Amino acid sequence: MKVRADLVVENANELVTVAGGPRVGRAMRELGIIENGSVAALGDRIVAVGTADEVTAQVDLTADARVIDASGKVVLPGFVDPHTHLVFAGSRVHEFIQRAEGRPYMDILASGGGILSTVRATRATPASELADVALRRLDTMLCHGTTTVEVKSGYGLSPDQELKCLRVVRELAERHPMDIIATFLGAHAVPPEYRGDADGYVLRIIDEMIPRVASEGLAEFCDVFCEERVFSVEQARRILEAGRAAGLAPKLHADEIAPMGGAELAAEIGAVSADHLLCASPAGIRRMAEAGVVATLLPATSFTLMVGKYADARAFIGAGCAVALATDFNPGTSPTLSMQFVMNLAAAGMRLHPAEIICACTVNAAHAVRRAGEVGSLEVGKIADIVIADVDTYLKLPYQLGTNFADKVIKRGQLVVSEGRRIA
Ligand code: NIG
Ligand code: FE
Repeated sequence: MKVRADLVVENANELVTVAGGPRVGRAMRELGIIENGSVAALGDRIVAVGTADEVTAQVDLTADARVIDASGKVVLPGFVDPHTHLVFAGSRVHEFIQRAEGRPYMDILASGGGILSTVRATRATPASELADVALRRLDTMLCHGTTTVEVKSGYGLSPDQELKCLRVVRELAERHPMDIIATFLGAHAVPPEYRGDADGYVLRIIDEMIPRVASEGLAEFCDVFCEERVFSVEQARRILEAGRAAGLAPKLHADEIAPMGGAELAAEIGAVSADHLLCASPAGIRRMAEAGVVATLLPATSFTLMVGKYADARAFIGAGCAVALATDFNPGTSPTLSMQFVMNLAAAGMRLHPAEIICACTVNAAHAVRRAGEVGSLEVGKIADIVIADVDTYLKLPYQLGTNFADKVIKRGQLVVSEGRRIA
């Protein structure tokens, strides 16, 4: 029996399906590539995937169907960016320059700058302005092939200001084609009002902020920056347990700058993901693999922090963890909106294979935000989020540096980017 379709992307040199669910270990190299492949959609869903001949035989095109020729190109799932801090005001360019001159990130934060300087700027900016800036950022992401993005709060740090930022995230989801997943990160830093009283602020998060975020349905996940001089393992555990009790699934900024036992905590509480992980211990890595916690690695942050070190991606893959990659887009440690730049760094900085990198930016990244049943692969029934890349083999995706390979982007079956520009 034939299936109806109103969109076909046909004759791809390589159709990278990444079919078969999230992967660990050696399986991260299996991309399910179909040579001379096609993918068809009806509305926002994929209805056929196969060789060009198979798909032609299967589909019945509607009168107004769009047919896109992808000869000579690579077609792959839209990227999922599972860790960003998209909503903020201002810039931190001066810190970037200071770090190049040798000043450590945590010293800048301890002296009231860093995250706290973005908190000052964000608090002083109305929601409408935050939304306008964030919408432009989402456009740039879409033009670089990202079709699903996780967005954290964390630059408000008071009940009203955190809710303001999360309502902006909800507005973005209504106004932009990107699929957006919200995370409450009230525990991003101790705000000036609670300086010296981190426990007092933790209580405020648990007693006031989490209940309000949950009752307004403003977030799906709860996250904590667990780090020396920020929030301890014990404080993180309390916040994440309170979040879980209110229906927010746990995530964790873990073992980024100092070894804290963050990976162990993520495993113990069954976090969906632990992120950063530059200083994760071998035991922590093992426990994350056993507990099925996704290791979301953020090489653009290592690069921008200028620490000369990346998370040990090979150890995570060797231990059997599902590794995902994300931009960590934020003004302090990762001012990039591009998963393509992250791919470059994952290859050159973390020595991942192009196949592992694509897996980490698609189906495993979807798994890190509990969306692997919906996005992250080209399979019948999934959302039609598709990137047409102007390269002849997927091997070149992390190799090509500094130019945008996303020629066309399809979001929920609609062509939204053509020749690298937003058209709808
Ligand atoms: O993921 N490490 C903590 N949070 C962010 C940085 C935020 C900032 O510096 O503004 C991160 O790297
Ligand atoms: Fe982050």
